[in-house]
Amino acid sequence: MKKTVDWSALRQDFPILDQQVHGQPLVYLDNAATSQKPRSVIDALVHYYTFDNANVHRGIHELSNRATNAFEAARARTAKFINAKSSDEIIFTRGTTESINLVAATWGAKHLKPGDVILLTELEHHSNLVPWQMLAQKTGAKLAYIPVTGDEGVLNLSKLDSLLTSQVKLLSMVHISNSMGTVNPVADLCARAKKLGITTLVDGAQSAGHLPVDVQAMGCDFFAFSGHKICGPTGIGVLYGRTEVLETMPPYQGGGEMILTVGYDKTEFKHAPHRFEAGTPDISGPIGLHAAMDYLDAIGRANIWKHDQELANYAVDQLAGVNNLRLFGPKTNRAGLVSFLLKDVHAHDVVTLADQAGVALRGGHHCTQPLMHKLGVESTARASFYFYNTRDEVDRFVAVIKEIQKFFAS
Ligand code: ALA
Repeated sequence: MKKTVDWSALRQDFPILDQQVHGQPLVYLDNAATSQKPRSVIDALVHYYTFDNANVHRGIHELSNRATNAFEAARARTAKFINAKSSDEIIFTRGTTESINLVAATWGAKHLKPGDVILLTELEHHSNLVPWQMLAQKTGAKLAYIPVTGDEGVLNLSKLDSLLTSQVKLLSMVHISNSMGTVNPVADLCARAKKLGITTLVDGAQSAGHLPVDVQAMGCDFFAFSGHKICGPTGIGVLYGRTEVLETMPPYQGGGEMILTVGYDKTEFKHAPHRFEAGTPDISGPIGLHAAMDYLDAIGRANIWKHDQELANYAVDQLAGVNNLRLFGPKTNRAGLVSFLLKDVHAHDVVTLADQAGVALRGGHHCTQPLMHKLGVESTARASFYFYNTRDEVDRFVAVIKEIQKFFAS
């Protein structure tokens, strides 16, 4: 890990942050929804479209070769980013949601039968819940959940032994909860599942760009994440799958690019990853993602994680001075976000008033409706941090929350 990072210098790499919103300097604290993009990512996209744009894997002309090389270089870079054994284990998708749907549609359809159990946690984002409900309806499999403790949003692992029955075929779980900031012990859970022959999927949407990820050390079979939450473009995502598991799976969509030979009555498919990438892919997406991964690793994700956690802990300390504030999330090892409610104030009102003061938050169920209902709320307000945020911004955020609280209390 680098000893010092000049965080304020890094901030200059993000042109979007240097602006006023409603007459106030922008404080962007909605990073769990999407991160901002550094100039190097924007430049990579502009360079690709200015000089190299062509279709991949098809042409033998110079531009097509350049585009293909850049596309495949991005795949190799992604393998390195999460320490996959091979770039053949990297499938490009539209995002975490599509990555999980791909597993449900292919692995799920092949391996699940009536009575099998898909084990999830109560923390899951809808993207790691709805695809499994749909699959369960199709296959006759059932869903079970590892419970959470309450407002802390920590998994109650005392129930795990009784949940890990011989019917469980898949354990699919979030690495970092987008609505609570919980960091799940995914390596331990994967190890427990593996001993029982259970396939594992980790939803890394909130973790991949925030802390070092090593899928081999984690021991998961699948790992999913999105480009846009890690300083890359929207519309590009990643599914990592262990080769041995990918090779058991039928194709996802049919079409060009994923075939070896096609006859009028029969098709032979390519091996992974191309078997799962039908049609012309998003080409600029992986190229932008490559630039984003280079950018993050130049800072060091261990440094980013430390900075994220320091900001979140600082925010928690400062929010302790706000009257009638209900704070969600773990007391220790909190990821870089705070989710909260002001008594008798709707989360949307908090977010709307904060916006008027230039502070961008998110309010709502955060695509974790079942979790919200379990906690007895409809929504929360959330501030989520990234490495370009500063303590001064946390101070401004907390000052704004105090003003909102006073306004509604008066
Ligand atoms: N899942 C994203 C969030 O938490 C959209 O905001």
